[in-house]
Amino acid sequence: MTQPQSPRPAAERPINPAVHDSAFLKALRGEPASHTPVWFMRQAGRYMPEYRALRAGRSMLDCIRTPELAAEITLQPIKAMPLDAAILFNDILTPLPTMGLDLDFVGGVGPQIANPVSTTADVDRLGVPSTAETMPYTAESIRLLVPELNARGIPLIGFVGAPFTLASYAIEGKGSRNYERTKRFMYAEPAAWERLMGKFEAILADYLTEQVKAGASAVQIFDSWVGALSIYDYRTFVKPATSRLIERVKKLGVPVIYFGTGTTHLLPDMASLGTNIVGADWRLPLDQAWDLLESGQGIQGNLDPLLLQAPWRELRHQTDRILGEAAGRPGHVFNVGHGILPETPQAMVHRLTDYVHEQTQR
Ligand code: CP3
Repeated sequence: MTQPQSPRPAAERPINPAVHDSAFLKALRGEPASHTPVWFMRQAGRYMPEYRALRAGRSMLDCIRTPELAAEITLQPIKAMPLDAAILFNDILTPLPTMGLDLDFVGGVGPQIANPVSTTADVDRLGVPSTAETMPYTAESIRLLVPELNARGIPLIGFVGAPFTLASYAIEGKGSRNYERTKRFMYAEPAAWERLMGKFEAILADYLTEQVKAGASAVQIFDSWVGALSIYDYRTFVKPATSRLIERVKKLGVPVIYFGTGTTHLLPDMASLGTNIVGADWRLPLDQAWDLLESGQGIQGNLDPLLLQAPWRELRHQTDRILGEAAGRPGHVFNVGHGILPETPQAMVHRLTDYVHEQTQR
């Protein structure tokens, strides 16, 4: 299994040896590990009583922008369960306000942007400020977390949204089912669309650089909604900027995960961008998804998050199935195929984490 040689890490301090040798980072490098590492997208969230208690009366953005709170929320699932990686508490939409978009998280509704992009002039008005100046709280949160996580030998995942997924929020102004405005803009204004993709590429590369410098030891790029595109549209309108972003991020010297949902048809194209790991949802069996990736590339997934609300016998059966499909190959990171849902019983998340560890002990 050959992985390209990593360039020198951008991090301010050398990586902690226990973190470097963790099962999670070994899997990301394609090396055999003591067990299959487990973490969960949205592992810090409303399914945890301590998260709901801390969030009570505080806005999402306040928590993200207050390093002590962001660090504390990040650590909540780590303290409660033997997870193999922490993910910074933040959101993919955090950069949008710094570009001039008026974002709010409305309880029970989700993200809302008061002034979404609808014209080419709107694209040209979007700023690309330095993320060290506009989002200093992100690096500060990471600096608070790294000593705590180093003491536990737990790596920290930094992340951004991918250009298409962020553009879908910037243009729709909220979550969407069919991305009608986004696709209309993409087809009608290809030059402005390309400028928009370029602005996201620039700000996201800068933001991930800050996160790695501050101590993130892996990064994930969330392209959650890219599965809405045909292969042709992905290649024409989205892949070039995403590829440039990933090329820049690879130079930071930490492993990269590229994730999307509904992407069965796009997996070979996503894999061709050459990240260490590609994330897969539950629609394809893990081994069939893995067959679509590049040689030496690992996979993250791919339990349907709804199974965490099924009886234990069904959850265990399907976990066995996924572990059977992975067949102990290096490069498998156990995760849900999309984020943990708020109705999930925390005891099931804990039991599943223990179970994957027990079953994959090597
Ligand atoms: O994974 C983690 O534990 C880290 C934190 C994290 C959040 N959002 C916190 C959050 C991460 C990695 C994200 C990424 C994110 N945000 C994505 C990509 C992953 C995915 O789910 O596809 C997307 C599309 C968003 C945008 C977003 N943020 C939406 C659509 C919503 C509303 C839906 C919802 O679940 O409420 C959010 C809000 C949000 N981001 C919450 C959390 C914990 C819920 C807000 C709350 O707790 O009140």
